[in-house]
Amino acid sequence: LTVAILFGGCSSEYEVSLKSTSSVLESLCLEKYEVILLGITREGQWLRYTGNIESIRNDSWHQSEKCVPAFLSPCRQMRGIVTQENGAMTITKVDVVFPILHGKNGEDGTVQGLLELAGIPFVGCHTLSSAICMDKDIAHTLAESSGIKTPRSVTFYQNTALATVESATEELGFPLYVKPAKAGSSIGITKAYNTQELVFGIENALLHDDKVVIEENIVGFEVGCAVLGNREVLVGEVDEIELLQGFFNYTEKYSLETAHIHVPARIDEELAAKIKQTAIHLYQVLGCRGFARVDMFVTPDGDIVFNEVNTIPGFTSKSRYPSMLRVAGISYKELLDTLIMLALE
Ligand code: DAL
Ligand code: MG
Repeated sequence: LTVAILFGGCSSEYEVSLKSTSSVLESLCLEKYEVILLGITREGQWLRYTGNIESIRNDSWHQSEKCVPAFLSPCRQMRGIVTQENGAMTITKVDVVFPILHGKNGEDGTVQGLLELAGIPFVGCHTLSSAICMDKDIAHTLAESSGIKTPRSVTFYQNTALATVESATEELGFPLYVKPAKAGSSIGITKAYNTQELVFGIENALLHDDKVVIEENIVGFEVGCAVLGNREVLVGEVDEIELLQGFFNYTEKYSLETAHIHVPARIDEELAAKIKQTAIHLYQVLGCRGFARVDMFVTPDGDIVFNEVNTIPGFTSKSRYPSMLRVAGISYKELLDTLIMLALE
């Protein structure tokens, strides 16, 4: 089976993709799969790469002589990667694509749309669900309409009058979370404790997206649930984020200096079952397929409040998604095989 791995990406989560990809490549069974690497630079250039994993890990891969311009043709007759070398075009047939791209231009339905047009099976959610899950405002609206609680929020666009936001946020109370509607790994998110920080937060979020979501703070703690499957799904053990300060921002997510992740979460079975059911419900309502990590809050009353769905969650062998499945008995290697099989279903 020829598997093309898409990595990097024109996204603020480019570095995260390099980490996820290095881990996947170390574990993917090379006896079973012929692997083609297709890197996308920060600027959006597509290159076929035949070098080592270390250069992906340290982000020097795109300087390698082993890179040639490549693209994925949306034309169904090709179903493969087209490379250009010395003026000649070569087509390499691909059976399945594994996009290991986080955030914009990769996890948001754009690449998924291209792959659907090209008629090449791929790992993970299709175009619509990828796009829905990437946009926190749209995902919340759909979740709410299916009976799931979401944080109260206000949506802000470039041209929204600040006074409107201030009056709306009075109702929500500080602290507030100011988020680009479409971004990941907490990039562009501010926890605002006052109006000045709120204004800064909006400006900061607008650097990443033209739509900003201002959310109330949910008292309680954050949990995640790994869902795996197409129509029939299974879930991993629920995990729990223990925060000692601030919020689960980019630095904490990737250094875990003060935050701690517990898998399984320190909760009773009844609550864990309710969280898993809610995660499966959200996965289905939002049209997910393949895999996704559903993030939720648990309030002191035991209510579950939806936070977001990550359709290509962080995927190093130590990341939350693989860890939740490992604790449930599915190894990282088995998980990779299952994802590829699910893509071909
Ligand atoms: N957006 C990052 C990769 C995650 O959700 O794990
Ligand atoms: Mg996310």
